[in-house]
Amino acid sequence: MEPIILDGKAYADEICDKLRDTVSGRMANSPQLERPELTIVSTGNDSASAVYLRNKINRCIQIGIDITHRHYSSIDQSEIESLCCKNCPIIFQLPIISNAVDIKYIITKNMQSYPESDVDGIFSYENIANLYTGSHIPLNIPCTAIGIIKLLKHYNIEMCGKVVCVIGRSNIVGRPTAQLFENENATVIKCNSYTPKNTLIKMVEAADIIVSAVGRANFITMLDLAECMSGRGQKLDISKKVIVDVGMNRDSDGKLCGDIPQNVKDHCYAYTPVPGGVGPMTVAMLMWNTINTWSRKNGTFTVDV
Ligand code: GUN
Repeated sequence: MEPIILDGKAYADEICDKLRDTVSGRMANSPQLERPELTIVSTGNDSASAVYLRNKINRCIQIGIDITHRHYSSIDQSEIESLCCKNCPIIFQLPIISNAVDIKYIITKNMQSYPESDVDGIFSYENIANLYTGSHIPLNIPCTAIGIIKLLKHYNIEMCGKVVCVIGRSNIVGRPTAQLFENENATVIKCNSYTPKNTLIKMVEAADIIVSAVGRANFITMLDLAECMSGRGQKLDISKKVIVDVGMNRDSDGKLCGDIPQNVKDHCYAYTPVPGGVGPMTVAMLMWNTINTWSRKNGTFTVDV
């Protein structure tokens, strides 16, 4: 059977249309309202970041969010201090270039008093605590993680009672994604790029849902699925498994690709394509967090998507 393609682009379009209608409806009813705002801070010239930045800016324009994009070749502590403030939704596009020893720690320190402004949901301890305690009234939820959960729910993919293998342990993707699956009552196995290949394949074998957030093209190949099972004389059957591919890599021809090659995805039950899967959902969830911060500031309802 042909695998189901989990079309993140189409669902993100739906979500962003709803956010646009909310903004235009509220602005029409209350013209004195300040428009929603987002500041994006970027540094250096990372090619994957450039793709995300373009998509984030285009979505802001679509929805009616006033966007300020500040680009630095390298950013320092005083610039970060001056950028963080109350009710000013802001993201620091990662990777971030700085001469400071631990720039992420500096951002974290500066975001502590402004959890509502941390629309990436990864820097303020209040947002992180809400995630790890499974709060029912969170402020901002990390965008890729909640984007994956929303996409699977949209396709009625069951998470409760399922086994999920999350490969990758970054603060921005792997860790929050593992936690959100646990909050959905899944059993979560955490691996990373150092997990020995034969152990990794055993974890993949045990899982119903595999999330790869390693950032390495061809991280799991057909050969891996065949070789690691060779002691048992068969190839690993992935026909009932769901593959969520968070990778944003370039292949040897410079083409955008995920962590898992297409010839592996072709054998599974459902998968997210790259591009057009998790990436657009990440951006849509950033827009959602931004509009919810705006709603709280105005005393209006947060938007259900
Ligand atoms: N780099 C790659 N994805 C993201 C994201 O969702 N947010 C930020 N801030 N940086 C990123």
